[in-house]
Formats: sequence, structure tokens, C-alpha cells
Amino acid sequence: MLGLIETSNLTRKFGDVTAVEDLTLHVGEGEVFGFLGPNGAGKTTTIRMLACLISKTSGEARIGEYEVGNDADVQKIRKIIGLMPDNVGLYEDLSTYRNLDFYGRLYECTEAQRTERIEHFLRMLGLWDVRDRAVRTFSKGMKQKLAIVRALIHEPRVLFLDEPTANLDPEFQKTVRDFILELKHEKRTIFLNTHNLDEAQRICDRIGILNTRLVAVGDPEQLTESLEGRKTVVQLAQVNSAITAAVERRGLRYVVSSGNKLVIDVSDPEKENPGIMEAIVAAGGHIQFITEKHATLEEVYLKLVRDEQ
Ligand SMILES: Nc1ncnc2c1ncn2[C@@H]1O[C@H](COP(=O)(O)OP(=O)(O)O)[C@@H](O)[C@H]1O
Ligand SMILES: [Mg+2]
Repeated sequence: MLGLIETSNLTRKFGDVTAVEDLTLHVGEGEVFGFLGPNGAGKTTTIRMLACLISKTSGEARIGEYEVGNDADVQKIRKIIGLMPDNVGLYEDLSTYRNLDFYGRLYECTEAQRTERIEHFLRMLGLWDVRDRAVRTFSKGMKQKLAIVRALIHEPRVLFLDEPTANLDPEFQKTVRDFILELKHEKRTIFLNTHNLDEAQRICDRIGILNTRLVAVGDPEQLTESLEGRKTVVQLAQVNSAITAAVERRGLRYVVSSGNKLVIDVSDPEKENPGIMEAIVAAGGHIQFITEKHATLEEVYLKLVRDEQ
């Protein structure tokens, strides 16, 4: 499948520092792609290259049919993308409405388009009632929301968001997350830089983990399974040696946790679990619960990022 965003060995150096190295990635149309990584991982640099704000050192990137780094395509790319940068510059003395109207004009939106879109998005984010207030009176959260609307004013197909919920309180974070999901329903492609794992897991279809190089990519479930493998947890009234021997006879690796739980490594639990249960019962075990254990995305992330160092 050809992605809407495609990169191949994309690399950016700043002097001796390699900020992004050999990034090969594709993001499909309508996908919410989460780009996770520690500070300094190269997330902002990647977005800035894709948004044609800085040049690439080597490699290739395309947005739709346009080529990043090709002067003839820059304006076309800018028309189909929107960017909420990590540093949201707004005109502090202008009102919310004027800020948006100004950007709408820059993008050559008609007056009718501007009127309709500004109201639509401001209402979605609960900012319509403060549309006439100067931005300098806004909280950080309100400014961040406004910066997202600004990135949408020309109805871009692709939206780049650089840590949109950073430093926001949980309620603002939730509004922004819900808003991103609304945009997904409008079939927009969203490239989301974040270091918030929970957020990535909740709203992203796929996640890439960056640490200068791309360390892993997949949907949240694939990522967690790829690290830990699958495990079946059997909680018993009590674990004894007859039960562990029965599990060992099946050639399975396990650990005992909390004294009464067997955490067993399985490769195909749907097939293996029934036999495991039978063996445990035959050995006199009283099974209380059976569950599947998943690594959290946080565990995967920390392991991958640490392994790199
Ligand atoms: N304009 C620049 N000049 C020099 N070094 C830079 C510049 N921008 C970013 N870097 C370096 O590139 C690396 C990646 O930075 P960045 O893309 O901002 O990471 P992230 O957004 O993941 O925190 C860092 O080591 C940073 O110091
Ligand atoms: Mg950044």
C-alpha cells in the first residue's frame, strides 16, 4: 500500500549531530500515526522536514504525489498540510477570530470558507464564545487549541501536530484527544508527535518509536506483543510442585508470581491453553482465574529506547 506520507532513508544532520537517521516510514491516508520518542529523538526535526520548513540532508520523502525537497512542489505540499508547531506562535494582540482569519487569508481561503471553518472548529474546541478576546489573555491550553485550529483553516489533508497536549491539564488533554478523533472521522491523516505513551495508545492506529533511528513501528497491540511474547496467567488456590511439574512436562516456561499465579509463556494461547488447563486440573490444581498478560506500551517503549543506548 502506498502511504500518503512516505519516507525512505530520510536523514537530517546539524553539523556533527545526526538528528534523524535513515528514517523509512509510511503513513496511510486517514491514519492517526503516533511518533513517540524521548526528548531529542528527532521528532520535531522529522515534522519540520516533512512540512518543508528545513531541508533534509539525504534520503527521500513524499507527501501524496509531491516530493519533499523539490522546489517546484513546496507550495503544493504546504497547501495540503497543516502544522501545529511545538512552539505555537500567535499574534498575541489580535483576537482569536482575527488570528484565524489572518491565516485563512494567507492560505487564500475565501471569506465564506473562513467564516464557516472558523466557527466550525472554534465550536468544536469550545472557543467560540471567546472569539473576540485577545490571545494574550489566553491560558496555555487555549493557545494550543487555537494553534490546532489555525493549522486546519485551509482544510489540509494531512495534519502535523507537534506535542499538542504537552503541559496541558488532563481535561484539556482530553478535549484535544477527542478533537483529534473527530478529525480522524473526517478522514484526515494525522501525524502526531508525542512523548505521552498513554495518549499514543488511546488514539493512534499505528505508532513509530524514534530514537534518532526508527526503533519499532506497528499498531499498539503488535508492539506490545513483539516485545513480551504472549503469556497466560493462571491464578490458583495454591501453586504446588505437582502443578509446576505438569506444566514443565508440557515443555513450557513459566514463573510463579505472588505465590499463587503461574505466568506461562505461550506462542499460540488459543490452541495451547485448553491442554494447559487440563494438565493443571489433572495435577490437582484449583483454577480461580485465567487471563492474558500484555506488556504495556510503556514497558515496550522503555525497553526499546534503553536497548538502543
Ligand atoms: N536547529 C538546530 N540546530 C542544531 N541542532 C538541532 C537543531 N534542531 C534540533 N537539533 C538537534 O537535533 C536533535 C533532535 O532534536 P528534535 O528533533 O527537536 O527532537 P525531539 O523533537 O524528538 O525532542 C537534538 O539533538 C537537537 O539538539
Ligand atoms: Mg520536539
